[in-house]
Amino acid sequence: MVIKKVGIIGCGLMGSGIAEITARAGYDVLVTEVNDELLKKGIARIEASTQKAVDKGKSSAEDRAATLARIKGSTKLEDVRSCELVVEAVIEKMEEKKRVFGILDCVCPPEAILASNTSSLSITEIAGSTRRPEMVLGLHFFSPVPVMRLLEVVRTIMVKDEVVEAGVAYGKAVGKETVVCKDAPGFIVNQLYLPYTLVAIRQWERGLATKEDIDKAMSLGLNYPMGPFTLMDFVGLDIHYNACMAIYEETKDPAYFPPPVLKKMIQAGHLGRKTGRGFYDYSGK
Ligand code: CAA
Repeated sequence: MVIKKVGIIGCGLMGSGIAEITARAGYDVLVTEVNDELLKKGIARIEASTQKAVDKGKSSAEDRAATLARIKGSTKLEDVRSCELVVEAVIEKMEEKKRVFGILDCVCPPEAILASNTSSLSITEIAGSTRRPEMVLGLHFFSPVPVMRLLEVVRTIMVKDEVVEAGVAYGKAVGKETVVCKDAPGFIVNQLYLPYTLVAIRQWERGLATKEDIDKAMSLGLNYPMGPFTLMDFVGLDIHYNACMAIYEETKDPAYFPPPVLKKMIQAGHLGRKTGRGFYDYSGK
């Protein structure tokens, strides 16, 4: 399966990162958003991130220009019809994923591979809603996409081996280490990571230690780059909460049921860094 052109659906934090690394690896990229404003914002994010890579000495100004030239944007989902691989990175809602995959299934040729970057929804359910479940897999990237080294390649019981192999090859081509995982709620990383963060919230709520000390303990004690509260703020508490609830609803495992304080913080608009306040206050930064 030769992949030359990759479609990315959604140019938010994840989609823009996936578009950036895919174009940097030499693929032609077509990234779509629902309107011009979001598309502009997403492309601006890619421009800023590729500039940061130049500033940090990770890429040259020429490579940056070539990367940006390989990225085209559109507000029409159907424009990805000429792509051999399409990676969906839209909002984490099953109905929206199915809507997007329904359109992709109609407009893309039968040999095109369709992937979802979902972190917590069922790839099997998404694949099962198409007429080509054997061509659908999970490609789960981590944030920030240009920096994090891992890609989880998620296989259902329907997908063809060649499609999984193509997913692994694409991951390597865009500079990621890959792991292959069965389709199960949270895959490998989030199955371990989400309960850990909820335990941290419960430790804090019962006064075991301050959130600062819990963060310090995990970053110094285990060499994690960020402690759990800093990381939840970084990812976004709404995204975090939705991921926990999606897995809880699928498994009914109480380890994934978020403590009520998380919902309260979301209701208060304290979503983490992106709103200036989460577990910590970023308003001065
Ligand atoms: N392209 C290429 N390289 C880049 C880059 C870009 N656009 N931007 C930064 N880099 C490089 C930098 O040059 C630097 O490389 P060196 O270490 O070789 O110097 C490295 O990336 C780190 O960059 P920064 O110096 O800007 O940032 P930092 O050192 O302050 O680290 C961080 C920031 C990477 C976010 C780090 O704190 C970290 O790893 N945090 C944990 C992040 C994490 O756990 N993410 C997973 C979230 S969970 C998820 O995503 C899954 C889910 O399903 C919800």
